[in-house]
Amino acid sequence: MTLYKKNFLKMLDLTSQEIEEYLRVAALLKEKKKKGEAHDFLRGKNVALIFEKTSTRTRCAFEVAAADLGMHAVYLDPKSSQIGKKESIEDTAKVLGRMFDAIEYRGYGQEIVEALAEYSGVPTFNGLTNESHPTQILADLLTVREHFGKIKGLTLAYYGDARYNMGNSLMVGAAKMGMNFTACCPAAYFPDPALIQKCKEIAAQTGSVLRFEEDPAKGSVGADVVYTDVWVSMGEAPEAWEERIQDLSPYKVNGNVMKRANERAVFMHCLPAFHDLGTEIGREMKARFGLDDMEVTNEVFSGKQSVVFDEAENRLHTIKAVMALALCDGI
Ligand code: CP
Repeated sequence: MTLYKKNFLKMLDLTSQEIEEYLRVAALLKEKKKKGEAHDFLRGKNVALIFEKTSTRTRCAFEVAAADLGMHAVYLDPKSSQIGKKESIEDTAKVLGRMFDAIEYRGYGQEIVEALAEYSGVPTFNGLTNESHPTQILADLLTVREHFGKIKGLTLAYYGDARYNMGNSLMVGAAKMGMNFTACCPAAYFPDPALIQKCKEIAAQTGSVLRFEEDPAKGSVGADVVYTDVWVSMGEAPEAWEERIQDLSPYKVNGNVMKRANERAVFMHCLPAFHDLGTEIGREMKARFGLDDMEVTNEVFSGKQSVVFDEAENRLHTIKAVMALALCDGI
């Protein structure tokens, strides 16, 4: 099994063994970084980082990982390229494929990153699409393994809107790794039935149990990991907030949700989070809806069970593993 020259587009494409390999190399490169050991074995390689949406963690992780590996990264922001506006994705991919050894894409539909991969001919990495956020899932799995010493057999309860990239990708990642997965939200917010069916088939092979729970008092019972995400995704209209707040408020992760989970349970969030009034959007929500927090209380976010910043750090080590394995044969 080799990941050399492979794309990294969505969790569904990966075997359990391939996920294990990304985690093994991420742990190895993390250790090297902590010890201050050089690991710049991709000197001379170039990666294009296309960001059609904003980012802190993903962009920084790709840029720092590239620098640590000895690579050069070129950041293309939504305004400074012709992508999709004056030039098709196919033509863009063909141009970038002539100049770069790899491409990262964050933006809209999954079909865009798939097209970049197809037409560029170089390894292409998904830094978040509407449907999928696979680099986040690798960081989450590494964090879970570091905390519990294993992944298989644990239970992750996802509170919030499970229809999009995070809910989808966590469900697939859990099923592939033999971790139990509960989506806790109103039925209208459950993942796509076709994806649930695929994940049930995977779960039947790995021993994972998938649950879809509408009762917020039941979702975290027996959970080792309680996970949530923002209620309105990037790029959605501001009008979406009112409906989302009304539907998802019963699913806010608070002290009671954590108390019902296992004693050693951890709280995870891919970030950014609305847990206080320290952001513009947080203050706007306070003015419009009288809310002091949204998907998670500050007590849980800042509490001793929270591992959100370990998770954020692991974006660096896992993204580094994705680039290293795609561009170096044998690590
Ligand atoms: N979790 C995540 O993808 O963070 P950014 O949007 O800051 O990249």
